[in-house]
Order: sequence, then structure tokens, then C-alpha cells
Amino acid sequence: MKIKEFGVETWINNYEKDCKYNLSGTCVGILSVEDLIKMTDDFEKILAQILDIELGYGEVYGSLKLRNNIASLYETAEYQNISIAHGAIGANSLAYLTLIESGDEIVSVLPVYEQHYSIPESINAKVKKIFLKEENGWQIDLNELENSVTKRTKMICLNNPNNPTGALIDDEILDAIVEIARKNDAYILCDEVYRGLSHHGNPFSRSIFDIYEKGISTGSLSKTFSLPGLRLGWIAAPYEVIRKINVQRDYHVICVGRINDYLASIALENKDRIIKNNLSICKKHLEMLDDWVNSEPGITYVKPKAGTTAFLKYDMNLPSKDLCLKLQNETGVMFLPGEVMEVENHLRMGYTGDYKTTQKALEIFSDWLKVN
Ligand SMILES: Cc1ncc(COP(=O)(O)O)c(C=O)c1O
Repeated sequence: MKIKEFGVETWINNYEKDCKYNLSGTCVGILSVEDLIKMTDDFEKILAQILDIELGYGEVYGSLKLRNNIASLYETAEYQNISIAHGAIGANSLAYLTLIESGDEIVSVLPVYEQHYSIPESINAKVKKIFLKEENGWQIDLNELENSVTKRTKMICLNNPNNPTGALIDDEILDAIVEIARKNDAYILCDEVYRGLSHHGNPFSRSIFDIYEKGISTGSLSKTFSLPGLRLGWIAAPYEVIRKINVQRDYHVICVGRINDYLASIALENKDRIIKNNLSICKKHLEMLDDWVNSEPGITYVKPKAGTTAFLKYDMNLPSKDLCLKLQNETGVMFLPGEVMEVENHLRMGYTGDYKTTQKALEIFSDWLKVN
């Protein structure tokens, strides 16, 4: 299986070590093991239990407690609907390797995490890419989707809330997407790794799993739950899909680490606290970013409604990779160029890192824009 370089991960690996102000990340409120255990009623007891965990293989499909805790994030899931993976990245890979075969057609909605078209391409699936429309607030153009999906379409691939734009699919649009998929008997795989980080109303937007009988949701503890180091993700899908995925999974996962399984349940059982803290970071930082964008003549954006990233449009005659390299060389400020997500003249910014560092980086970027 030949697969092309993962643009986002390659860019970050190559440049983050040398930057002074990293605005390319996507995480919020990272927790330590201590922070997590302190959320429980009995720090000493939990610590002793962790020290006691025997490091044999754990339960193959993950503990029942963990799968039940993940199922509780959905309105209609039971533990049998959940398959545990190594992060959302592992969850997405397993879903594609299980369900997509050479010659299948899929429709992938960009900009999106590259897995959602590169893995199907590597399996020799025919990938139709359609793009969110900035002029529609980064919503999907339903006519375009309708024209792209046919009876041959095996799957529609979405990311909601979306990285990089921070957009959330409007309810009516989501319902219409489901109708288009249903008419054509296509799966919808929706990467929901930022679900739980809607800035207004219920932090948990509607999951594709709950609203569509062929809906597959992938998620993880990396963003909403501030624990990317646990490498714990999942797939929520109809039973027959989970059964197929678990056949593939046996070749890739065996099981997740027992300590990770244990800590993951602590996080899920304390989700309200973690999410409250994360949302207050998202909102406070976004306010600062919004003031900055409004005062910066060369930059526009659609204000994000969810997640941790914004997609800044710049008014300069310079490809985004060149801009990012020049800016980073001259100032140490690092963004992710839109080109690696196939949208030129944009920069992906993670705005939920350290507040003062982010503010300083934006000031430096403003100064740089004045002379460039
Ligand atoms: C949309 C999306 N999906 C999946 C992932 C991978 O996340 P994880 O750390 O859970 O593997 C990321 C990471 O940035 C992401 O942005």
C-alpha cells in the first residue's frame, strides 16, 4: 500500500522544534496524571490502584467500564457499539481499512485531516473531493454534495466540528446530508474528535451515530478531554460495522494500555469539569483573536463556533508555505500553511495555547505584516 506524506503531520514535525511561538497546535488545557487523579474523591486510593495495575495485556476490546463511559457520550449507543483504538487517528484508519476497498467511490469534504482522503486513495478508492465554502460560513454546499454522491458512493467523509475552520455543521444541513446519504445507501463517517467543544449551547453537537443508521463517529480523548498523551480513541458505529471493524482491529491493536484504559474512565467520568475549563479557555482566547482579526486589515476569517482552531485568510501575494517559512525564519511565529490542507491563502491557527504567548505572537505577526 503506497501512501503519500501526511502534509499536516510532516509540517509540524519539521518546524515545531525551531519555532518560538507555536500557533500550529490543536490541543487545549493539557492535563497531567496528577491533575486527572485530583479530580477524583480519593487521590491516595486512586494512586494506589494505579500502582497496582498489572501490565499484562488488558481486556482485548477495552474494559466494559471504558466502553460504557464512551457510549454515554452518545444518545443511543451501548458498549457493543464502541470499538477502542489508538487515538482518533487509529479509529479513522481502522474504519477506512475495514469498509473501503479498491474501486469504491467516496466523497470527502475538505479542508479536513488528511486521513479522510489519503487513506482511501492509498486503497485505490476513487475519491471525490468537495470543499466547504468560506462564503457560506464554511458550510457544505448541498447542491454540490447532491451532485457528487451517487448510488456508487460507499461513504461520505466529514469532520464536525471542523479542523481547521472551527465551523459546526448547521442542524438543517446535517439533516440534509443524512438524507442524501440515505437515498444513496452510503455510510457517513464523521470525525468528531472536537465534539464536546461547541462554544455555545450544548457543548456536544449532534453525533452522526445518533442521527443516521449508517453513521460512524470517530472520537478520542485528545482534544475535548485534554489527554492526547493517552492515545485513546474510538469508533461508535452500528453493531454489524463494529463486528467487521473488530476483525480488522485484531491485526492492528490487540488492546490499549491498561493504565490508559483506567485513566480514560477517570477523564470521562469527570468530563463536565474538563470541558468547562476547556470552553472557558476557548472562549477567552477566541475573544482576543477576534479583536486582533478585526483590527488587522490584511486578515479576515469566519469566526469559529467550536473546537480550537481558526482558519485565517490573508491578503498577500505569497503562497502559504512560503509565508509560513518566511514568517517563522524572521520572527519565530509558526502557523500551519493552508496549502497542506489544500486551501491556499489561509493559515491554520490553534488559538488555545498559552494566552500571553498567543497574544505576543499575534502582535509580532502584525508588525511583520506591516513591512511585508
Ligand atoms: C480532525 C482530526 N482527527 C483526528 C486527529 C487525530 O487525533 P488523535 O490524537 O486522537 O489521534 C486530529 C488531530 O489533530 C484531528 O484534528
